[in-house]
Amino acid sequence: MSTNTITAPSVGSVGARISDQEFGAIRKLVYDKFGINLTDQKKTLVVGRLQKVLRERNFATFKEYFNWLTTEKSGEGLDELANRISTNHTFFNREKAHFEFFSKTALPDLMARRQQLNQTEMRIWCAGCSSGEEPYTLMMLMMEHFGSALNQWNPMLLATDISATALKTAMAGVYPTDKVEQLPVALRNKYFQKQPDGTMVVKDVVRKRIFFRRHNLMDATFPFKKQFDTVFCRNVMIYFDRETRNTLVAKYHKHTAEGGYLFIGHSETLGRDDSQYKYVMPAVYRK
Ligand SMILES: C[S@@+](CC[C@H](N)C(=O)[O-])C[C@H]1O[C@@H](n2cnc3c(N)ncnc32)[C@H](O)[C@@H]1O
Repeated sequence: MSTNTITAPSVGSVGARISDQEFGAIRKLVYDKFGINLTDQKKTLVVGRLQKVLRERNFATFKEYFNWLTTEKSGEGLDELANRISTNHTFFNREKAHFEFFSKTALPDLMARRQQLNQTEMRIWCAGCSSGEEPYTLMMLMMEHFGSALNQWNPMLLATDISATALKTAMAGVYPTDKVEQLPVALRNKYFQKQPDGTMVVKDVVRKRIFFRRHNLMDATFPFKKQFDTVFCRNVMIYFDRETRNTLVAKYHKHTAEGGYLFIGHSETLGRDDSQYKYVMPAVYRK
């Protein structure tokens, strides 16, 4: 076994070195537990983040840290690992063509389908919601779209992520003003409140309509009894390998109502043979 080591730059102290074997063990654990495929290109970044954990928890070596991770029973170590290795980059109105399509085409169409069934229900799942910008954007758009029929439809938006840290930010709904400026001015003015410290908080009328929950997309089965009208899973599967993506997309398909949509990130595609969804437009699919 090669003993190549890598040390990420650290301020004030030298980080623990990691051998190829130790990195391989952590890579396998991360893949098995979270589906995230840590490529060699990510090594420096990941090692840097984990060296910080080693320092905070007083582990001298990655071997000691790994042994603790795989034996401690509370799950705290794995939760922390998920927080540290997940990439939570997101922003309001990201890939806005999707939001336009959702408001102008998907929602009216989904409403018509529900009405044919004599139902007024709209169930949306935002999987890998990170710090909340995406589900808040979706809920504001739905509130605009439903207008005076909002209470009648009472749209349900489930927003899940594996990272407890990202979810904490999401649930607080407090964002710097320059981030909120990525939204159209009408939404900003209507659904945010400026706080004394200059930050913007999402108003309760929006916040209380979203269910934020911790959920691991690698769970063998999903605990949902009813299907969703639309699943958003954007910029999440880029961290998964093809096999993991295909398994996940098959599960999404099972949990999508007939005629419902799947939105993925613009840099992602579903191979023609990889899924039962039909292609609608770039990164938008339909059951
Ligand atoms: C780059 S963010 C994407 C946020 C948002 N969907 C967007 O497009 O802007 C990816 C998110 O996926 C989450 N994630 C990664 N692996 C996951 C897993 N196995 N289960 C649930 N969430 C996961 C990460 O914690 C992270 O918040």
